[in-house]
Formats: sequence, structure tokens, C-alpha cells
Amino acid sequence: MSEHEDTVTVQAGPGHGPATADTVVAPAPARRDDTLELSRGLAEPPPAGRRRMPLAGLEARQITAWFGDHQVLDRVSLSMRAGEVTALIGPSGCGKSTFLRILNRMHELIPSASLAGEVLLDGQDIYDSSRRITQARRQIGMVFQKPNPFPAMSIYDNVVAGLKLTGTSMRRGDKDNLVEECLTKAGLWREVRDRLRQPGGALSGGQQQRLCIARSLAIRPRVLLMDEPCSALDPTSTRVIEETIAELVAEVTIVIVTHNMQQAARVSNRCAFFLAEQGTPGYIVEHGPTDAMFNDPQDPRTSDYVNGRFG
Ligand SMILES: Nc1ncnc2c1ncn2[C@@H]1O[C@H](COP(=O)(O)OP(=O)(O)OP(=O)(O)O)[C@@H](O)[C@H]1O
Ligand SMILES: [Mg+2]
Repeated sequence: MSEHEDTVTVQAGPGHGPATADTVVAPAPARRDDTLELSRGLAEPPPAGRRRMPLAGLEARQITAWFGDHQVLDRVSLSMRAGEVTALIGPSGCGKSTFLRILNRMHELIPSASLAGEVLLDGQDIYDSSRRITQARRQIGMVFQKPNPFPAMSIYDNVVAGLKLTGTSMRRGDKDNLVEECLTKAGLWREVRDRLRQPGGALSGGQQQRLCIARSLAIRPRVLLMDEPCSALDPTSTRVIEETIAELVAEVTIVIVTHNMQQAARVSNRCAFFLAEQGTPGYIVEHGPTDAMFNDPQDPRTSDYVNGRFG
């Protein structure tokens, strides 16, 4: 099954790696518990039209990550401010996707993976032992590089799949409203309103990606992580997704990975430049307001990268 924040593809926890015992995150719960927790986590969807949650910021503190003995991130700290778009940029292999997966506890699904550090959502560490793994994934949604709707499932059912997986019942009218609201926010409603019963797989790549955004929004995340969401899309679909991001950020904090410097400049408020030099773990060379990162970077490597001189 493809990656999907609502699916329950949890494996036994990682727990291996050279991090010290007091900083390593506890292994993920075994599959059965996690399934149970997912049901609990999503069992009480907020009623349609409910009061909005205030915007939430996300703060990574001293994140170090390993796959087995291979350290891939070194003490990465980054504040991703509430109501802003933060872009993560940097050459291939420097750990951007790994960092993103750490932000919603997906990293620990990989058997050899371990990490140290803290991720604070609204000041609360999502890795705190008292917090449920599914709580983090519900509050911090993810959209992947390759659109991954359920292809045979209808557009309508794709949007509410996160709720459906838990067996949650919602009044038909509320569900209809939720579907319209999420598709509208994802910039897809006008294109699919007359064919909601058609399969998700029948949409174009760009439409499928917006369907995945709508599906993420249906579980009301406070943060949306997007890993190169436009890399497989044509320029028109890319523009539509960028417009969607600009509108969504009023209510969902967004962190986006992109290799497209124009895109980073267009959509983000702040940028972080990751680099892994000659086999060393990835780290942040520089971060700050996007305008400064592009027009007045402090580090010559940032300047070289944003101007396309390497990577
Ligand atoms: N599942 C995994 N098992 C082992 N090593 C991994 C795994 N996933 C990533 N890595 C390694 O971690 C490092 C960082 O990879 P990551 O995918 O986070 O980089 P990235 O910056 O997202 O790259 P790209 O821009 O190509 O997507 C790389 O050295 C990669 O080989
Ligand atoms: Mg990546």
C-alpha cells in the first residue's frame, strides 16, 4: 500500500541506531495497538462547521536521525511558524524527506530508523511518551510526491477515507458539506462537483494531487507537510496547487519540500537550506525569510544553491 497518513501500515518499531538511550525515541507501538489508537484518534471527528482551531506552529529541536548506523541528519533545529509556508530546499539526499517524516512520526515506521531530538506542536513534544502516535499523524497531515488516491474508490469516498477507515459515522449532510468544503479548499471542487461518484484514479495527475490534499484536510490537520507535491505535475497543475497553498495557509501551517527554486520563492514565507557535504549528515546551512535567502543570503553556499550553481 502506498504511503498515506490515514492508512495503518505500521510496523514494529525501530529502536536501533547509535543514539544515546536517553535521547532515542521509544519504538513505535506494535501494529495491533497502533490500529486501535488510530481508531481512537479519529473516532471523534469534529462536526462540520465547528469552530476552527487556532493556527499552530511546529518547532524542531536538535533533530538527529539515523538509518541503522548511517547518520543522515545532524542536530537540525527549525521553527516553522504558525500560518506561514516554510520551504525546505537543498540537494538530493541531504535529508529533507527524512526531516519531514520526523515531523509527523512517520520516520519511525521504517524498521532501521531512529532519531533524537524534539518536535513541538504548539509547544508540546509530539514524541512525548504520553502522546499517542496517531495524534501526531492526525494533527500533522502529509501529501507525497506521487499522488496516492485510492484509485478504485470514488472521488467522494477518497475525501472522507480518513474518517471511513475508522468506521466513524457522520450524518450524510455533514459528510456532503465536508466533501464540498475540502474539495473547495483544495481547489478541485468546480472540476469534480458533477462527478463525485467517479473513481479517484480517473482524474489527471494534478487533480489526483489536489484530491490527496482534500483527503488530508478532511481530518482537520493543523499542519500540512508536502514533499515535492508538484514534481510530477505540469505547469498548469503546479500553478493551481501553488494557489491552493496560498489559500490554505490562512488556516493550516504548511511545510513544503521543493527542488524548484522559483516555487520556493513564490510560495514560501521562510526557507531552510539543507546540505549534506561529502558523506556527512545533513544539516541546515541557513534559514530565514525567503526574500533574504534569495536576495541576501549570508552563506556563499546558499547563494550558490539558490542561483543554481550546484545541486
Ligand atoms: N528507508 C531508508 N533506509 C535507509 N536509508 C535511507 C532511507 N531513506 C532515506 N535514506 C538515506 O537518508 C539520506 C537522506 O535521504 P532523504 O530521502 O531524506 O533525502 P532528500 O533530501 O529528501 O533527497 P531527495 O531530494 O532526493 O528527495 C540519504 O542518504 C538516503 O540514502
Ligand atoms: Mg526527498
